[in-house]
Amino acid sequence: MEPRAFYVAGRPAHGEGELTVTHPYDGRTVGRTSWATPDQVEAAVAAAAGVAAQAAALPAHARAAALDHVSRRLAERADEVAELITAENGKPVKWARAEVGRAVSTFRWAAEEARRFSGELQRLDTDPAANGRIALVRRVPRGPVLGIAPFNFPLNLVAHKVAPAIAVGTPIVVKPAPATPLTALLLGELLAETDLPEGVFSVLPLPNERAAELVADPRLPVVSFTGSGPVGAAIRRAAPEKHVTLELGGNAAAVICEDWSSDEDLTFAAHRIATFANYQAGQSCIAVQRVYVHEWLYDGFLPRLVAAVQALRTGDPSSELTDVGPLVSVEAATRVEAWVDEAVAAGATIEVGGRRDGATYPPTVLSGVPADAKVCREEVFGPVLVVAPVADDRAAFAAVNDSAYGLQAGVFTHRLDVAFTASRVLEVGGVIVGDVPSYRADQMPYGGVKGSGVGREGLRSAMEDYTEPRVTVLTGVEL
Ligand code: SIN
Repeated sequence: MEPRAFYVAGRPAHGEGELTVTHPYDGRTVGRTSWATPDQVEAAVAAAAGVAAQAAALPAHARAAALDHVSRRLAERADEVAELITAENGKPVKWARAEVGRAVSTFRWAAEEARRFSGELQRLDTDPAANGRIALVRRVPRGPVLGIAPFNFPLNLVAHKVAPAIAVGTPIVVKPAPATPLTALLLGELLAETDLPEGVFSVLPLPNERAAELVADPRLPVVSFTGSGPVGAAIRRAAPEKHVTLELGGNAAAVICEDWSSDEDLTFAAHRIATFANYQAGQSCIAVQRVYVHEWLYDGFLPRLVAAVQALRTGDPSSELTDVGPLVSVEAATRVEAWVDEAVAAGATIEVGGRRDGATYPPTVLSGVPADAKVCREEVFGPVLVVAPVADDRAAFAAVNDSAYGLQAGVFTHRLDVAFTASRVLEVGGVIVGDVPSYRADQMPYGGVKGSGVGREGLRSAMEDYTEPRVTVLTGVEL
């Protein structure tokens, strides 16, 4: 198995040592690459800084053409890319295909936004002293971006860092997750097919301990990080002067409101929640983790939820039939097991699931969980769901907010007033009405409040994040 190249200033390269990537399901080797050397890191960062002015001056059609190219090539190679995602991450191939489809659209959206990202005109003649004045508010790149990506979406969360950078014309140095670098390297191969100037992108496999040297480098004034809360906090502390976007964890909740009461309603919600608590073995920041059900619906909802969870097929993620594959590693599954055991010791009941097999943890539903158990308070990042009755919608919303996190929430209601109340009172970055919190369209603003991070991804939002306004005041203009 030849080691895959990584990309230094747009050119394929090999570094030092060996990074062997194994399949989370059966431990077999699925690919190799090497680690970027300190000299290669320096070359990538110097090239990014050196090409920044040229990148910012690229016309919109050139940026859009590169983005469209990547979108098209991902679509052409979709099966191969999906198999690679499954092999290195362990997510079922149907979810890997969905991820490729989303990345195709992430790059396409970025191309579209690149064509219309134009700034705005602002009238200044609102005051007599400013007669004949108008402001041109353009957005200019803050400078080269350091993108640090997680393992759970090895393609689309890399795409969410790279595509907006190209769209605004700013260079990016990407550090993929060490567990899942291969898909990012394949993306590098597609970027290398474009006419982007040398230095606009680099993809560097690096151990996590070496991310600090990039975070500290003043030539990368923007950091876009997706990953755990403690690492996000460390980045903020290490680089207080930088512009930082942090997409951190969550313990996303769904609420079954009082009016969501018909048999059809409850069955629909049970299926959606079962699916999106367990997709990718729960390894998504917006996987459903907590469910609050109006108390008079609880007894009708719980058996439906348990049946929907029991119907999920666990197994080899390369099978078309598999719904839930392994977690990313045995260590990850062992941690999940320990958290569930701790909840059970504190009085929780396992309604279904609860026995680990290697890296696979079965879809599990817990009831009667004390509010301070880790499976409630922390981000489980595993296929574990906590379900609890609540007295009314208000109590449900208070329970959702009783969290250190605030990424997205799902609110099952038909009532517009309840939807608006939820949107007003829930302390989250996004409220999904009539569905699970796990819904994400790649063009919409995505990010959280409280411990879930700062800043927003989603193409337009990330483009705003990567740029700052520059005002040009024109004088003596007849308006
Ligand atoms: C995440 O885990 O934060 C990303 C979720 C998604 O893109 O669907």
